[in-house]
Amino acid sequence: MLAKYQKLSLGAKFTLILLGIFVVGMTIGGIVIYQLAQQVAERSITNRSEAMLDTMNAVRTYTSTHVNPELADRLMTEAEFIPETVPAYSARTVFETFRQQENYAHYSYKEATLNPTNPQDRADQFESDLVSQFHADDSLDEITGYREIDGERVYFIAHPMRVTSETCLNCHGSPENAPPSLLNTYGDQNGFGWQLGEIVAAQVIYVPAGDVLNGTRQVFFAAMGIFTVIFGVAIIMLNRLLRPTVLTPIATISALAEQLGRGNDETREITLSELSARGDEVGSMARVFQRMAENVRKRERELKSEVQQLRVVIDQEKRQREVEQIADTDYFRTLQSKAAQLRERLNNPPTSGD
Ligand code: HEC
Repeated sequence: MLAKYQKLSLGAKFTLILLGIFVVGMTIGGIVIYQLAQQVAERSITNRSEAMLDTMNAVRTYTSTHVNPELADRLMTEAEFIPETVPAYSARTVFETFRQQENYAHYSYKEATLNPTNPQDRADQFESDLVSQFHADDSLDEITGYREIDGERVYFIAHPMRVTSETCLNCHGSPENAPPSLLNTYGDQNGFGWQLGEIVAAQVIYVPAGDVLNGTRQVFFAAMGIFTVIFGVAIIMLNRLLRPTVLTPIATISALAEQLGRGNDETREITLSELSARGDEVGSMARVFQRMAENVRKRERELKSEVQQLRVVIDQEKRQREVEQIADTDYFRTLQSKAAQLRERLNNPPTSGD
């Protein structure tokens, strides 16, 4: 494995290292980003739900301050109950209108009450716990989280619901004071005996966990997409930059080294002048290498001329020795003595008649 890695080119090594960082970074980053994305998605749904709950409460207030007083007399006299006088009714009706928009299609709304007028509003075990938590802590004004309803996981946003005004007690106080038409419709058993200021219900919005998940995925993939693009560009850019700044210079320098090693053919000289002008580490390496190459060449030239001189000396000595060898032979000596005799004879020619 390591041996294979060592054999890779610099560019491939860098890419591999960056890919490693990318994989590790994306794994760790992915976990963190996923959690952040989930928080963002939950926050966005919570914000939306809070706005809805505020709207719902505004509608409730409008009903009890504007609609109910107009119809209160008719409630006491007519046999038929008028649901439009009930804040809870207007809130539910407005919510149904909300749900017709695609954004809110999966949302559901419940005024989960411990002692409800309408049994459909009865708090289940989980919701009763929420009400208890609001009872226990007066400053608590929101609980969010996940739960299961009929096997489906849902995200919830719950606010405490108080009996805010005396008018509520017209219908939720004691059955004796309640409009007869209300008693006709709902009976005299449930939704009575509430106190002013009491927290009677948890106002809850439910959203399928799938909606949160979709939001989470959107944020998650957007963030991961951006990271991937940044990493991808970084890897490509690094490879692009590596070529002119490191890879090509190293190739040039090693080609020059090889040329020097082969004993140099100066006609096809590789110059480092462009590289050595650079201010970075490659530049200083090129300068050092240039100086070294010059020294090597100079020394080589000196060596050559020394060898030349040496050869001349050797040639002279060789000739000398050859001469001496020739002079040393018997043949040469006889020749010499013959020459001497000849010279003798020439110098002292024999007198005639001798
Ligand atoms: C005109 C009578 C009337 C008045 C006034 C009234 N309510 Fe109600 N309320 C009802 C009726 C009837 C229901 C049941 C509606 C339904 O069918 O869901 C109800 C439902 C509720 C619910 C849902 C739980 C349940 O009992 O079914 C809450 C919570 C509630 N009312 C709180 C209040 C508060 C707080 C006020 C004062 C701001 C108030 N109501 C004023 C008649 C009234």
